Amino acid sequence: MTEFNEKQLSRRELLEAEVIDILSHISSPAERTQASAHLFGTARMAVLIAKKRGLNEDLAYLTGLLHDLWRYKTGISREHGPNGAVLAGSLLDSTGLFTKAEREMICGAIYFHSEKSRRHLPFDELLKDADILDRMLAEPDEKMTGADAERAKHLSLEFMSRS
Ligand SMILES: [Fe+2]
Repeated sequence: MTEFNEKQLSRRELLEAEVIDILSHISSPAERTQASAHLFGTARMAVLIAKKRGLNEDLAYLTGLLHDLWRYKTGISREHGPNGAVLAGSLLDSTGLFTKAEREMICGAIYFHSEKSRRHLPFDELLKDADILDRMLAEPDEKMTGADAERAKHLSLEFMSRS
């Protein structure tokens, strides 16, 4: 089991506070609740996937937490990967608690996360899958299509099939 050290905990708390502050400006209570559920839900799904695939759990959590923040902040979906990466980078920098390599992992995954039909590095794929897995559990009746449906099928096999 992963032990989180003090630095990891404090930067997590700082970023969670930033996320909650930004989401608090969403005027619709329903949208605010949905945004919060999706960001914290994707963060937890990212940890689950990281555990299974042997990837960094702490960075996985933070990547999920920040991945759609720009979209919720602005209400704009278009190009929210690249724009989200810029916002995430500035939040990470503001803490002064991330190395260049950690920043690149988080921002890289957020940059590419809308490109569900393409394959990127394992950590990038982790975020795309966590995004889908959260939707699968939060909205079980949603009919996914194309690359999203393909990912959902693989995730069902990886996490939900009985052995
Ligand atoms: Fe998302």
